[in-house]
Amino acid sequence: MQKIRLLAIETSCDETGIAIIEFEKKIVKKQEVISKEFKVIKNLLISQIDIHKDYGGVYPNLAKREHIKNIPILLEQALGKDDNFKNINYIAVTYGPGLSPALWTGIEAAKTISKEYNIPVLPINHMEGHIFSSLLTAKNKKGDIYEIITPSLPSIALLISGGHTELIYMNNFFKYKKVGHTLDDAVGEAFDKVARSIGLSYPGGPEISKKAESGRREIVALREELRLPRPMLHSKDLNFSFSGLKTSVINKIEKYKLTEEEKNLFCMEFENAVTDVLIKKTREALYLYNCNSLIVGGGVSANNHIRKSLTEMCKNDDIDIYLSDKKNSTDNALMIAAIAFAKVSNSHPALTGEKVEDIKAEPNLKL
Ligand code: KG4
Ligand code: ZN
Repeated sequence: MQKIRLLAIETSCDETGIAIIEFEKKIVKKQEVISKEFKVIKNLLISQIDIHKDYGGVYPNLAKREHIKNIPILLEQALGKDDNFKNINYIAVTYGPGLSPALWTGIEAAKTISKEYNIPVLPINHMEGHIFSSLLTAKNKKGDIYEIITPSLPSIALLISGGHTELIYMNNFFKYKKVGHTLDDAVGEAFDKVARSIGLSYPGGPEISKKAESGRREIVALREELRLPRPMLHSKDLNFSFSGLKTSVINKIEKYKLTEEEKNLFCMEFENAVTDVLIKKTREALYLYNCNSLIVGGGVSANNHIRKSLTEMCKNDDIDIYLSDKKNSTDNALMIAAIAFAKVSNSHPALTGEKVEDIKAEPNLKL
């Protein structure tokens, strides 16, 4: 039996993530067999949120500068000062989608380590990471041993993040078909822009969500003129649009002077509008594609109201739901390690030598 260590690097946006996981490999009847479980040795993150706050969003070249500074710090924290790369058997690195300058920092780091220590590299799609983050199941109380659960297939993955809003049909591991997407803003982007217009800080999702939760506890009702549209609710496809909803919020904020109490109610109305559309389209996708389960991934899936509403919908419709731990919903390197582990377990080839040199950032990478 051999112990295998995998180093994962995530730098697609404004979080620098480094994780190390360990699992076992043995040979059974001349076949390599990988353990069902893996152990998290390190899962480290440096968030750049405070740095980007002043810009109200992520500033790509600043993200690049910070990743370049943070990667060596995290590698040293993960591996110690000695040359412990010798114990690493694989490197997994996000190569898209994301911000090009940010993605390149992780890729360059992976290439340098791979070359120096002759370690194979698995290039990873960030969105696939979000899917696998939701399939992680902790096997112990401490939460450092995980297994990847096989969902009841076929499945729909609802991916909701700062850059994406997608419905993905999945009839097997690693086999995806996009069946719906946003025609303009991503849902996280709408949360961030709406938050900014109300004077809340970046990232806007958690801020709006906090105010919306206060709104849900208020006894007064929302003024009729503050009602918001549910864009594309009745469109005959599985696509979304959040730009009009965002503009509607901004216009109303400018037109009506809102009290703090009304701001809470207005955030609740925005959260409700987004949720209504997500629920309607997801339910349609599940029905249309005859699916047995729903996987929800991406930073916006940390939202309590959205989680609760999707869970209720699935309960009513007898659909299994897989949500990531809230702490693993937003970007991190553990999710990159998880998909890489699944690929190694399923004998996906890792790249070596010249092929590693060919890995490049793909900002618009699709599933
Ligand atoms: O997946 P993620 O960490 O980064 C991208 O890949 O984009 O998602 C970040 C997005 C941001 O737009 C942030 O505002 C949103 O996730 N977000 C939330 C919540 N927590 C993070 N949106 C709504 N409610 C939340 N609690
Ligand atoms: Zn993400």
